[in-house]
Amino acid sequence: MAPLPLFSLLFTFLLSLTPTFSTNSEGNALHALRSRLSDPTNVLQSWDPTLVNPCTWFHVTCDSNNHVIRLDLGNSNISGSLGSELGELKHLQYLELYRNDITGKIPKELGNLKNLVSMDLYENRFEGEIPKSLAKLKSIRFLRLNNNKLTGSIPRELTRLSNLKVFDVSNNDLCGTIPVDGPFATFPMESFEHNRLSGPELQGLVPYDFGC
Ligand SMILES: *[C@@H]1O[C@H](CO)[C@@H](O)[C@H](O)[C@H]1NC(C)=O
Repeated sequence: MAPLPLFSLLFTFLLSLTPTFSTNSEGNALHALRSRLSDPTNVLQSWDPTLVNPCTWFHVTCDSNNHVIRLDLGNSNISGSLGSELGELKHLQYLELYRNDITGKIPKELGNLKNLVSMDLYENRFEGEIPKSLAKLKSIRFLRLNNNKLTGSIPRELTRLSNLKVFDVSNNDLCGTIPVDGPFATFPMESFEHNRLSGPELQGLVPYDFGC
């Protein structure tokens, strides 16, 4: 009779709904980010995880397919740290987190953001090394990490970023020499000032010790 097939039909229907929620990985990633951050002026108040996608949240911009392409949280009074979940925002083109009070490391998973054009993390309190994985950001044009507390050397892998137009790591605690290959041939010395860098690497001495 009816009850059993009806039940299984209903069950199948409910199962089919589940992926609709669980595949909103971009919303989940942003909500995970929010849970890490302290937000005293409620800039993230509209980030409601029960919505189908994050495209109506303030400071989030999506494309016509409801994929997140911009995160605009510069000058937002936020503190806390970033996590690996940001690497889930596969369609992200602009990551704007400048002039906040964010601490901790730059997650290496940010290297998974293949479509990223601009990453602005300047004027925060990021520490640790610049991840080598950022060399995977083939589309990146603007990479500003200045005025943080970054240590270690500038990864040589970044010289492969052929689209890079603006690179600024001034006012950190970086050491070693300054790369001169690829786009690094064009960056002004101001991009490197106020670190413990020992000057441009000498041509012909590659692979000399780039370490610190
Ligand atoms: C950040 O904090 C300052 C001082 O509390 C406030 O004037 C400003 O509006 C805040 N900015 C945002 C984006 O909420």
